[in-house]
Amino acid sequence: MSVSFPIESKDGLPVQLTLADAQDIESLKELYRVIVGEGNSYPHDGFPAHEEFMDYWFRGKKTVVAHVPDRERPDQMAGAFYLKPNWPGRAGHVANAGVIVAPEWRNQGLGRLLGETMLDYAKQFGYRGVIFNLVFSENLIARKSWEKLGFCQVGVIPGAIRKNDGAYQDAIIMFRSLVS
Ligand SMILES: CC(C)(COP(=O)(O)OP(=O)(O)OC[C@H]1O[C@@H](n2cnc3c(N)ncnc32)[C@H](O)[C@@H]1OP(=O)(O)O)[C@@H](O)C(=O)NCCC(=O)NCCS
Repeated sequence: MSVSFPIESKDGLPVQLTLADAQDIESLKELYRVIVGEGNSYPHDGFPAHEEFMDYWFRGKKTVVAHVPDRERPDQMAGAFYLKPNWPGRAGHVANAGVIVAPEWRNQGLGRLLGETMLDYAKQFGYRGVIFNLVFSENLIARKSWEKLGFCQVGVIPGAIRKNDGAYQDAIIMFRSLVS
């Protein structure tokens, strides 16, 4: 199944969203390497080995990647999301998602576009809600972005995240129902 594309970002850039396949692995690795290096949004504290990366971003998931046509950086991935059940069985209708945007494409509407597409996609797959289970409390842009997409804070895990300086920050759990 493929999401409709191209889609314009708020700056009118044509964004191409496609279901990821094997040819996207290396580009997504490069993007996730940047995210891990920033250290302020995902739990890995070093770039994962290949198998762990594949488990985290591909296996058992629907993964959608975003490209913005750019002649200077034709292979560069602008963003991505994954969608998977957060739990098995009786709670398998609650999805978990991860959304990332490359630093150079941030604050141009791509995160919102990926988030909205992720929610549409989740509905199409029959999910009844989506949970972000580890939003770093100091990641204010992500918290604001998800609130704007209708997510509510449903919990706080005190000190769940170890920062580079050895201090700890909380993780926020955010939930969005997909049923009225
Ligand atoms: C969080 C993230 C996905 C948002 O993506 P983005 O493309 O930058 O977000 P958008 O441009 O769609 O902006 C979303 C909202 O946040 C606001 N925002 C984005 N960047 C901002 C900034 N630097 N300062 C203030 N507000 C900002 C926008 O105003 C926008 O609100 P609007 O829709 O009312 O205009 C992106 O910053 C990112 O990938 N960060 C690192 C990974 C991460 O944190 N992932 C989420 C983990 S829970």
